[in-house]
Amino acid sequence: MTLTYAPFTIAVDGPAAAGKGTISKALARHFMVAHLDTGLLYRAVGRKTLDGVGAIEAAQALTADDLHTDDLRTPEVAQAASRVAVIAEVRSALFDFQRAFARRAGGAVLDGRDIGTVICPEAEVKLYVTASAQVRAMRRLQELTDAGHATDFARVLADVEARDARDMGRADSPLRPAEDAVTIDTSDLTIAQAVDAAVAQVNQRRT
Ligand code: C5P
Repeated sequence: MTLTYAPFTIAVDGPAAAGKGTISKALARHFMVAHLDTGLLYRAVGRKTLDGVGAIEAAQALTADDLHTDDLRTPEVAQAASRVAVIAEVRSALFDFQRAFARRAGGAVLDGRDIGTVICPEAEVKLYVTASAQVRAMRRLQELTDAGHATDFARVLADVEARDARDMGRADSPLRPAEDAVTIDTSDLTIAQAVDAAVAQVNQRRT
């Protein structure tokens, strides 16, 4: 089922490992719209800082190829991403690309932290996907273990909480639900239930 050719933006915000990525990919498939995982932009910048490149310089010079580096999903890169994400110049260097993607013809779903509040405040649908820190840490532990990373629950929970604190506490574009966002708490939902809830929200706003 396709959306209209006019811009139609689905903004999916929320904390780490709440299920934003899974829901956003499913929405993109269901409604046949493009999807941008905006966390990848910050991860790509964070990754470069681990090699000694300045964060602002890295953000200003970012190319599509940088998003295809295969080690962007590590805990170290996630922490580096949330450190560079507090820098206003980094955020503004990444703004235009996200903004243009959000308003592209045919519709788009973007997931991140500030899509409904800053990147596209006029988004037609705004979802805030969340879950308890314990549940999120458990899911992230499973993902990391499956990907062959040696870690444990306490460490993953500490990482999730540190990232939440930094993302919610920063001055520029802090993570928070937009006033008109619909919250989906996935703590007690299966993936199918969470996706169904999100699809229902989009359908409600399409008519
Ligand atoms: O979503 P993901 O876990 O890949 O994001 C990595 C980090 O990038 C987040 O912890 C956050 O600090 C930052 N980020 C952001 N704004 C976005 C997307 C991600 O600040 N729109």
